[in-house]
Amino acid sequence: MSPTPLIIIVLSSILTCSLLGATALHDHGDASTDFQALRCLKIHLSTSAGFLPSWKIDGSLQKFCTWSGVTCSKRQTSRVVALDLESLYLDGQMPPCIANLTLLTRIHLPNNQLRGPIPTELGQLNMLRYLNLSSNNLSGMIPSTLSSCSQFRVIDLGSNSFSGEIPPNLSQCSNMQQLKLDHNRLIGGIPEGLGILRNLSVLHLAGNTLTEYGYGSKISTEGDVYSYGVIILEMLTGKRPTDELFKDGLSLYKFVEDSFPEKIGEILDPRMIIPYYGNRDEEEAGSSSDQENHQIAAGIMGCITALAKLGLLCAAETPKDRPAMQDVYADAITIKEEFSALQG
Ligand SMILES: *[C@@H]1O[C@H](CO)[C@@H](O)[C@H](O)[C@H]1NC(C)=O
Ligand SMILES: *[C@@H]1O[C@H](CO)[C@@H](O)[C@H](O)[C@H]1NC(C)=O
Ligand SMILES: *[C@@H]1O[C@H](CO)[C@@H](O)[C@H](O)[C@H]1NC(C)=O
Ligand SMILES: *[C@@H]1O[C@H](CO)[C@@H](O)[C@H](O)[C@H]1NC(C)=O
Ligand SMILES: *[C@@H]1O[C@H](CO)[C@@H](O)[C@H](O)[C@H]1NC(C)=O
Repeated sequence: MSPTPLIIIVLSSILTCSLLGATALHDHGDASTDFQALRCLKIHLSTSAGFLPSWKIDGSLQKFCTWSGVTCSKRQTSRVVALDLESLYLDGQMPPCIANLTLLTRIHLPNNQLRGPIPTELGQLNMLRYLNLSSNNLSGMIPSTLSSCSQFRVIDLGSNSFSGEIPPNLSQCSNMQQLKLDHNRLIGGIPEGLGILRNLSVLHLAGNTLTEYGYGSKISTEGDVYSYGVIILEMLTGKRPTDELFKDGLSLYKFVEDSFPEKIGEILDPRMIIPYYGNRDEEEAGSSSDQENHQIAAGIMGCITALAKLGLLCAAETPKDRPAMQDVYADAITIKEEFSALQG
């Protein structure tokens, strides 16, 4: 694999944003619509082990708050606020009726065998803060309607079979903290706006086929460069701030800082293969093509070092130590041009 895609992705996530105002909250539901919606879910999701025996539909109405995996509101009687159904061999498609649980704040269904698309109706759940459907076999496009869930903090759709592009208007979820779309079949680019989501600390996109994006981007002068810095550090190292490694005071930032600049080559994502330096044992050593390779490799390391420096500057702990967005943009363009020149 060549180093090109990763580097271009890093250089290309430059940045515009339009924040969406808060969406008005509509709640057309009551305990009986919640009951009907759970009943509908039970019918559509099955499991080889017999789906959720505790979900007794024949029982008296509104006992559903005691069903396993169902959490009800403390303030509003018999209203469902969370579904936690991890690793239950659930299979089938998520039915649109899930969107009738209008007070849902949390959907946690990872590690099941759900397939088919996410219903676009999910976007109607405007209290939803957490959606975790990782490790299923969901497919189709990621619905752009998800962006209407303005409360989102966490979306984890990792390890599924989603295809198409990342919906650009996900960057309207201004409260987003963790967005994981890794290990799917996504194509296209990284939406520019994601780079300045102020609270985004985890953006995990590995294991897709994302390519260059963002020609003609507008620059946001007010945008926070912090997330952009973190994205650069993540992509260079292939590590996430939440990785096991980063405990006991070691952070992704410190990890990169400690190796900068001499040992930067040692902490790069192993998938970034720096071209061959030439083999001294071979007779052709010192030939012109060998020297050329050496120059290209040195040039690429130069670009990577410059990029790591930019990442560290942007992700500096105190906001006042971070450069202005125009300067970040200018630096990134310069690195990108140098890198393109090396490609000949
Ligand atoms: C949601 O609830 C309404 C009112 O009870 C019902 O008419 C509608 O069919 C439900 N929608 C879905 C997708 O089940
Ligand atoms: C989603 O659920 C899985 C399984 O419990 C967990 O490992 C993962 O960390 C969750 N994702 C997020 C973003 O919390
Ligand atoms: C996942 O779904 C795809 C079609 O969407 C299918 O080809 C594949 O076999 C499924 N994988 C598993 C493990 O069920
Ligand atoms: C997101 O974009 C899609 C089209 O790309 C549009 O249909 C949808 O309404 C947008 N959603 C929001 C909340 O703006
Ligand atoms: C981000 O997090 C801070 C602190 O938790 C919070 O005050 C703020 O409202 C959040 N959202 C945005 C868009 O900054």
